[in-house]
Amino acid sequence: MISPDPIKTAASAMAAIGATMHFDWRLAGYDLQCSQAHVEMLHRQNIICEADASTLLSGLDQLSQQVRAGEFMSPPDAEDIHSALELQLEALVGPVAGWLGTARARNDLAVTALKLWLRDQIDALLCKLKVLLEAFRQQALRHAATVMPGYSHLQVAQPITFGHLNLAYAETLLRDGERLLFARASLRECPLGSAALAGTSFAIDRIYTAQRLGFECPSSNSIDSVGERGFALDFLTAASSLALNLSRFAAEVVFWSTQSVGFIVLPNALVSGSAAMPHKRNPDAAELIRAKSGRVLGNLQSLQVVVKGLPLTYFRDLQEDKEPLFDTADSLHLALDAAISIVSLMQPQPEAMLRAASIGFITSSDLADWLVINLNIPFREAHHLVARLVESAQSNNLTLGKLSLELRSALDPRLAVSPWPSFNLEQSVHARRSYGGTAPERVTQAAEAFAARLSQLS
Ligand code: ARG
Repeated sequence: MISPDPIKTAASAMAAIGATMHFDWRLAGYDLQCSQAHVEMLHRQNIICEADASTLLSGLDQLSQQVRAGEFMSPPDAEDIHSALELQLEALVGPVAGWLGTARARNDLAVTALKLWLRDQIDALLCKLKVLLEAFRQQALRHAATVMPGYSHLQVAQPITFGHLNLAYAETLLRDGERLLFARASLRECPLGSAALAGTSFAIDRIYTAQRLGFECPSSNSIDSVGERGFALDFLTAASSLALNLSRFAAEVVFWSTQSVGFIVLPNALVSGSAAMPHKRNPDAAELIRAKSGRVLGNLQSLQVVVKGLPLTYFRDLQEDKEPLFDTADSLHLALDAAISIVSLMQPQPEAMLRAASIGFITSSDLADWLVINLNIPFREAHHLVARLVESAQSNNLTLGKLSLELRSALDPRLAVSPWPSFNLEQSVHARRSYGGTAPERVTQAAEAFAARLSQLS
């Protein structure tokens, strides 16, 4: 439809494409913290007088209370949360509100508030990640000796312990915790006071505001500061790794919980039924953890693409930094909560695991090791001989341990030995006690050592 007034249409198109209030309201509390620190600093530096400072601070205080109570009402024409708060401050304290913008701009304010928000999010996510890691550790301690099949190519390969596998996920996710810490370290510098891009002619004290807001120091270069979004990309990168690894774990949970496998039982609260097929217990929570990784990975790419074509300093493009961050943090909170419940409440089924591990020849590599150690046969050759022993056992319908001396010596005279070993699953896992191996005693030790590493994650 052709509008009767193209200028009005343009103005409303501009307002619609430019508005961010519907998502950046989340920054309200952080914007107000910045403003409080800024006003205190302006007063300390004698840039604004005592009376104006206290009027501003009491107005900001009222706004903070409104925000905390969920009662803050944005003026209808506010473009973003920063202008909304300034407009409401003016409504509360009158023209004195105009002093607040001294020696700062929305460019440095918006990025500082965003950094403060992100710092809290990373801390909250790390807390949840630690709970998840502890849940894996507890499963590892409980199931250090629970034997299950270890797979590669999803083919049963060698027996392992369920505890060992839980610690494998714990190791993977601990590294993601370290990635989050790295992202947190990217938030060290405070951009506030960089103003629009060139700094300010007022004698501000950026060290004061930086410290007051819990940063390590002010940022060194005002041009860099207002357009810099590396900190956001660092977080999204760490978040992508975490989401990706949670997704892999979730895929494993889906596999474990199918009836054909049955390695774990999930509580009713974490599965959904099917009206038509009442026997089904769909592992929806795990599937959704897996699916949430899609948007998290997409959010990283989305911000990379936004930033990639931009020369330095602020462009309006940069307001598209927020939704990928908000959505990523939200998705990770959901995924971590669900993962914590899964890991804490999943009930391993040792009998099903043992049954699945009890396939012919799963201990064939133990026999190869035995040939090396006891008959001094080089490993490559031993491996080869075991392949032929397996063939012979298969065609005679025997286990490796039951192969007769005749059958063995027919393959190679060195195999005509007695006694001839037979390995069971327990022996096999207990034998793998190399550092980092699957032996129950190693798993218990590793789980115990993991506690200390976990406590260092902060
Ligand atoms: N809402 C904007 C953002 O988050 C604030 C900065 C606006 N600055 C400007 N020069 N228009 O990026």
